[in-house]
Amino acid sequence: MHLLYATRDGQSRRIAERLALRLNALGVAATPRALALAHPVPGDPADPIIVVAAVRYGKHLPEAEQFLAHYKRLVSPPPLVLFSVNLTARKPGKDTADGNVYLRKTIKRHGLKPVLAQAIAGRLDYARYTWLDRQLIRFIMVLTGGPTDPRTAIEYTQWDKVDALAARIAALHVPAR
Ligand SMILES: Cc1cc2nc3c(=O)[nH]c(=O)nc-3n(C[C@H](O)[C@H](O)[C@H](O)COP(=O)(O)O)c2cc1C
Repeated sequence: MHLLYATRDGQSRRIAERLALRLNALGVAATPRALALAHPVPGDPADPIIVVAAVRYGKHLPEAEQFLAHYKRLVSPPPLVLFSVNLTARKPGKDTADGNVYLRKTIKRHGLKPVLAQAIAGRLDYARYTWLDRQLIRFIMVLTGGPTDPRTAIEYTQWDKVDALAARIAALHVPAR
């Protein structure tokens, strides 16, 4: 199974690694790989592709957007599993394909039909950000009722939910005969 991630601060990579660990434990081979710009789309139409993509400033990272645009042009696209990593997903109801604005817009923009799509809450770590990013994210947190103390470092990712997603992916997987 192809397991691709797009990250800047590492949380989407950690989520992809956790998915790989759980999938491997369930007997499904998957190795996480970083998406690059102009990443080739794997060809086997029977082999699902999992994309774990971080959001920055309202959009998935460019390498993920570009990959999805390529994917959409495939004649026989393999099944797609799409995970969006962002902070909005920490709120109840904002982690579904309809409830999460980034996921909803990306699916619509590319006309995707993922077999599974979910938003996963990421990590907030003000100390890592540039001054400008810190101010902007604090502003978003004011608007959405999140922590604004610049010393805050919180991992919102619920790993039991990630494990449950891995189990759902494993159930999708039909081993080759
Ligand atoms: C510069 C910057 C912009 C961000 N913009 C958004 C945003 O628009 N919406 C959101 O929900 N989260 C936003 N986030 C939160 C990230 O999606 C979250 O920190 C995620 O864990 C980052 O994933 P990564 O560690 O794989 O890069 C932003 C984070 C940073 C650093």
